[in-house]
Amino acid sequence: FASGEFDGLTVVVTAGPTWEAIDPVRGLTNRSSGKMGYAVATAAMEAGAKVTLISGPTALPDPERVRTLRVESTQEMHDAVHTHIVDADIFIGVAAVADYRPVRAADGKIKKTLEKMTLELERTPDILASVAARKPAPFTVGFAAETENLEQHARQKLEAKKLDLVAANRVGADIGFGTDENSLLLVEPGAVTELPMQPKAKLARALIRHIATRYRAKHTA
Ligand code: PMT
Repeated sequence: FASGEFDGLTVVVTAGPTWEAIDPVRGLTNRSSGKMGYAVATAAMEAGAKVTLISGPTALPDPERVRTLRVESTQEMHDAVHTHIVDADIFIGVAAVADYRPVRAADGKIKKTLEKMTLELERTPDILASVAARKPAPFTVGFAAETENLEQHARQKLEAKKLDLVAANRVGADIGFGTDENSLLLVEPGAVTELPMQPKAKLARALIRHIATRYRAKHTA
């Protein structure tokens, strides 16, 4: 693997799930293990970048030679991203961020006194869209987890959030989340590239090579 493609560049990567507290011992989260995002952070480091990884709760050790910051909620991930994105050249949002959070978290453990209860949820901040809206914006890459119409949904995200690239993956009960292998459809203005099913480490290196080419084309244009 040709190292040096990212020499001198600063990259911020998000990974893992977020955790939205319901009370001190319960929360809303999802099945992201962090494997894909940690592989992307490592591949960017191997290509020569200075990498900050902002990770939700995972069972994985910090990747070597990557500055790793641990957060829990979407709000904490959002704030950490905006603190560290200031001088960054590239942002890659691999985290499976919660779209909704409880309107308020209970201070104490909720007791099971009711037969039925309703949780009121509100939208979380959109980290990816807020990064792409910065002036100047870094080269911004989003991931899209879809169960169907991969390319169409990815292209909608690309355009709605004004991204440079969307890496779409098919997800289901036993694909995408938590697995050791993945495949990606890279959706860009005017182009679609398929990266076939392979171990996440190898896939991440192919993604980083692709981003390096596009980043250079954009910045020498
Ligand atoms: O962690 P693994 O087990 O290895 O699994 C990898 C993965 C399946 C989680 C990963 O490959 C992946 O697809 N990550 C994105 C999952 C996701 O949340 O997709 P989405 O379509 O809901 O979100 C689209 C994009 O917006 C993502 O880049 C996400 O980081 C970002 N987002 C979403 C909501 C929000 N409030 N803020 C965001 O920044």
